[in-house]
Amino acid sequence: MILRRSTSAPHTTLEVLAPAKVNLFLEVQARRDDGYHELETIMVTVNLHDRIRLTCLDQPASLKRVVEEDGIDLTCDDPSLPIGPENLATRAGLLLRREAHQRDRMVPRTTIALYKQIPAQAGLGGGSSDAAAVLVGLDRLWDLRLGPEQLAALAAELGSDVPFLLGPEAAICRGRGEHVEPLSLAPERPLHLVLVCPPIGLSTASVYGRLRVPSAPRTANEVLEALTGRTDRSRLGSALFNRLQEPAEALQPELVRVRDALQNWVPSHLDGVLMSGSGSAYFGLSRNRDAALSVADALNPLGLGSVRVLTSGP
Ligand code: C5P
Repeated sequence: MILRRSTSAPHTTLEVLAPAKVNLFLEVQARRDDGYHELETIMVTVNLHDRIRLTCLDQPASLKRVVEEDGIDLTCDDPSLPIGPENLATRAGLLLRREAHQRDRMVPRTTIALYKQIPAQAGLGGGSSDAAAVLVGLDRLWDLRLGPEQLAALAAELGSDVPFLLGPEAAICRGRGEHVEPLSLAPERPLHLVLVCPPIGLSTASVYGRLRVPSAPRTANEVLEALTGRTDRSRLGSALFNRLQEPAEALQPELVRVRDALQNWVPSHLDGVLMSGSGSAYFGLSRNRDAALSVADALNPLGLGSVRVLTSGP
């Protein structure tokens, strides 16, 4: 997450770049009594970002209005997305405002302007990352200084992927997804990905609804070792795994065409292919950027959806 502050009295603006994520591994270990599933998943952020501009009145000069005009407004450049409390970015703002009130802190009326690049319902964590960015950004803008643990607790209230998207570049996440153990990747060896986002969105709840919980869950060890450099990185491609891919493809069989189109480039240009999260985006893991660009050029005319070449990291 990248933050940039600018002041033009009487307003202060903070711009936050909210990254997308992909899952390199996702296994479901059990169904829980609260309707969620116990997971083990490895996620990395990638250089595809939503941009979020947070603007509020400067506090000292306008304290009276601050008290009178306490509120959160969302605007979004994608008219297909809701801007009320159904939008996780609005919910994040409202949640942080509630937290501020509990600490007897008034907060100024604030506008959240959301500029979307991350496709929705794609398994790329777009909405979750927007929410994480709003939490971190408003904590700064309102000078609440909540600290990482409190922000993580609020993030977990908003969604299972939000705690990861608060911080690390890569992590292994457990529980509902909210127990985040950061992983360090060698910055000089980013992952190169070809990402295909089909024009079909998938609801996370529907995909989980179709899932059969395995009797013998897989472990993340092979992905973990290849990713963090304990074994040869080239083994990462064949170790990629996502338990949600099968139910997602059962729900939307057209997705198999996207998977096959990427799979055709294994092993010549790609090391492996996987659906991210609960779908519908797929990625191919490439040896280097040139190979990724060649695959993207070949896939672009096929009408599978939007095709991008990405790297892991900020
Ligand atoms: O936490 P989040 O709101 O992103 O989850 C969306 C839906 O995905 C949940 O309502 C639930 O159906 C499913 N889910 C799950 N187990 C998880 C995470 C999500 O069953 N660990």
